[in-house]
Amino acid sequence: MKIAALLGVFLAATAHAQVQGTPFGFAAGTTGGGDAKAAAPSSLQELVGWLSDDVPRVILIDREWNFLGTEGTTKGKCCSTKTTTCEGGTSKGQAWIQDKCDDGTWIDCEYDNAPKKAIDIGSNKSIVGVGNKGVIRGKGLRITNGNKNVIIQNIHFTDLNPQYVWGGDAITLTGADQVWIDHNKFSLIGRQHIVSGWQPAGHVTISNNEFDGRTEWSAGCNGKHYWTLLLIGEKDYYTFAGNWVHDVSGRAPHMGTTKTNSENFFHGVNNYFQNIGGHSFDVDANTWMLLEGNVWEGVDTPITDTTLKSGAVIYNVPNTQAGRGCESAISRSCEVNQLVKSGQFSPRTDADVLKKAGTYKASMPPTTPVADIPKNVMANAGVGKLK
Ligand SMILES: *[C@@H]1O[C@H](CO)[C@@H](O)[C@H](O)[C@H]1NC(C)=O
Repeated sequence: MKIAALLGVFLAATAHAQVQGTPFGFAAGTTGGGDAKAAAPSSLQELVGWLSDDVPRVILIDREWNFLGTEGTTKGKCCSTKTTTCEGGTSKGQAWIQDKCDDGTWIDCEYDNAPKKAIDIGSNKSIVGVGNKGVIRGKGLRITNGNKNVIIQNIHFTDLNPQYVWGGDAITLTGADQVWIDHNKFSLIGRQHIVSGWQPAGHVTISNNEFDGRTEWSAGCNGKHYWTLLLIGEKDYYTFAGNWVHDVSGRAPHMGTTKTNSENFFHGVNNYFQNIGGHSFDVDANTWMLLEGNVWEGVDTPITDTTLKSGAVIYNVPNTQAGRGCESAISRSCEVNQLVKSGQFSPRTDADVLKKAGTYKASMPPTTPVADIPKNVMANAGVGKLK
């Protein structure tokens, strides 16, 4: 009995030090490091080695790993434009780290080098925060060169030169596939919280994350971060579910591009977009987008006008009739979206979205009633929420 009880405690402890839950939607089947023995690195160097080698690993992030200062700083010139100097706004703007400054003036600046260059992640990795302790400060992760099968769960990414546009991206997908980004938090990022392009991001599920845009350095001069999610890979399939996107001012998300032969299918389901002083969805051509069961609350522009004219193919489930329209394609009705103290958007029920959704039926997870979304998402999204 005693041994069995001890074994039970031991198994429970190890289970909690692993990935929790299973990826659903487009990243279903992603296994990351699989059954590899979970281990926590003991130095920054070991962490980087484990992240980037080609050994399947379950890497525990059991503390804050701080990369700031590890690669020196750059003192130089940054470009100041009208989004750098906020007059009468609630925050400072963001200066641009870039080589040209045609539409602004050069100013002195100093930034940390570490956030500017992400760590390239090898295939077959699970990177998992322990409890609420997993923090990566001053560094982003990138999946590229055909690497794939990566799980990033329960980690707070923060402090990537938030004063500067081009200060750093938290997660980059370009030439990737099978990526599950779950229960993470993003804050104080210089550029994008998640970015894909120009190569394929592949099959990606972005679930239960908190995108926290509160910042002193806002390009919109309103205390809210502008560059949230830029999804412009060449062949991308996203399930974007249960995320809390708040206090941002733009690109939440931006997707689609006409600069490549991009083809982007986006299923945005049961997310909570809150306090967006600017726009949420800004979508270009070559995108097929099904939005259902989402709540926008306190959002100026849930979907931009340019989106509706861009050629993007959209099904935004404006009413129950449109919800029932999903049945023949995906064998269930779609959940209606809800706008609370927000701008309006035009109803769109483009049949081509359902046609594609029908072929991806196995990747369409069930939905939660939209009325439960704000409460559920705020209780569940972000770090330290895994049970
Ligand atoms: C990743 O795992 C797959 C499936 O087990 C295997 O075929 C592949 O070689 C692995 N890749 C690396 C770099 O270990």
